[in-house]
Amino acid sequence: MTTFTNYESEVRGYCRSFPVTFDHAKGATLYSEGREYIDFLAGAGSLNYGHNNPVMKQTLLNYIEADGITHGLDMHSVAKEEFIRLFQEKILQPRKLNDYVMQFTGPTGANAVEAALKLARKVKGRENIIAFTNGFHGVTAGALSCTANQHHRGAAGHSLNHVDRMPFDGYFGTNTNTLTYVDKMLSDPSSGIDKPAAVILETIQGEGGLNTASDEWLKGLRKLCDKHDMLMIVDDIQAGCGRSGDFFSFESAGIQPDIITLSKSLSGYGLPLAVTVFRKSIDEWKPGEHNGTFRGNNHAFVTASAAIETYWSDDSFSKEVKAKADLLKNRLQQIARRYGPESLTVRGRGMMTGIVCPNEEIASKIVAHAFEQNLIIETCGNHDQVVKCFCPLTISEEQLLEGLSRLDNAFALTMADYQEAQQAS
Ligand SMILES: Cc1ncc(COP(=O)(O)O)c(C=O)c1O
Repeated sequence: MTTFTNYESEVRGYCRSFPVTFDHAKGATLYSEGREYIDFLAGAGSLNYGHNNPVMKQTLLNYIEADGITHGLDMHSVAKEEFIRLFQEKILQPRKLNDYVMQFTGPTGANAVEAALKLARKVKGRENIIAFTNGFHGVTAGALSCTANQHHRGAAGHSLNHVDRMPFDGYFGTNTNTLTYVDKMLSDPSSGIDKPAAVILETIQGEGGLNTASDEWLKGLRKLCDKHDMLMIVDDIQAGCGRSGDFFSFESAGIQPDIITLSKSLSGYGLPLAVTVFRKSIDEWKPGEHNGTFRGNNHAFVTASAAIETYWSDDSFSKEVKAKADLLKNRLQQIARRYGPESLTVRGRGMMTGIVCPNEEIASKIVAHAFEQNLIIETCGNHDQVVKCFCPLTISEEQLLEGLSRLDNAFALTMADYQEAQQAS
């Protein structure tokens, strides 16, 4: 452990909540020195198909054994061709996103967001972008301007400009449609908002607290984008790749964004891969204008293709995820009713659902008590007050229920103290 504390920067994060050294992992289980931990964090959404998924692992081993291309800049490779073909055939075309092209950016989510923002500004010839309260889009300068969280913004070291913030769906409670405000601000030439090139949003805010945009709100936003001549960027880096139950999180709203960003679980195996997908009609890039040495990771193409073939050739996986999401929600509602009918609420959609706690202190105690029982789970939210269940989508029902019963115990331990303190005060 001292290797990390002595020689790794103070910037390290997750390892502080889970101070053990993991040695191997399989499915939804992480191992450290013979102890088994159920993983309800799943690489912050990069492991939707579990750790070391056997199908992808074998495909990758075969590819490496045959000396398949590992690094190829953005040159053509068989692995890339196969991935593009499968993504078009099994993901985009069945969802009627036929006229979309794919840009392979540097391999992080933030880089896909940078590309989306640059492209939107270039196409519309305007600087301003609309981003939403509690949105998270990464921590490189352009993406960070769109990220709302003060902790991350504060580290920029310079002012973060050219982005205006609007209230996300539900920001003022359920009785206020925030789109009325957005429309008014964009329609009034003296509102002080410069005409934007685009809006960027997550349909389910992963880091910002599992706030979900309703289908109606998303449809309304799409209409506003058309009315005010703005491109719609859906950042599906966390909510995409099946997390909502559909491959894209915006499918239930029946909308078509102009630009979509994907990363995290796209490779299916935890390998870095990011893509910005957009309408062919706005492809105004000149060759290499946005580049990166590691754009297009061939090992990730191989596992991403295996993931699409295995899980997205028909709708059976999507149905399975939706059924698991119902189970998750019901069990979380049971926990909330049991330990805090007035102080705990369930929030989220699909397999990104959690429990909103009264404050950060309680949420962090729950995470600590969960870890004592070998459950890895983290918090999110504007005050880090939401305990977020983020397990692999492939987790078995049995292991999901076991994880939830450990979470139930963690709530029992924490909420008993909380209730006692409330009564005493
Ligand atoms: C919605 C969303 N966008 C962008 C990012 C940034 O991705 P990365 O950390 O790979 O740069 C994240 C990361 O959590 C995210 O959740």
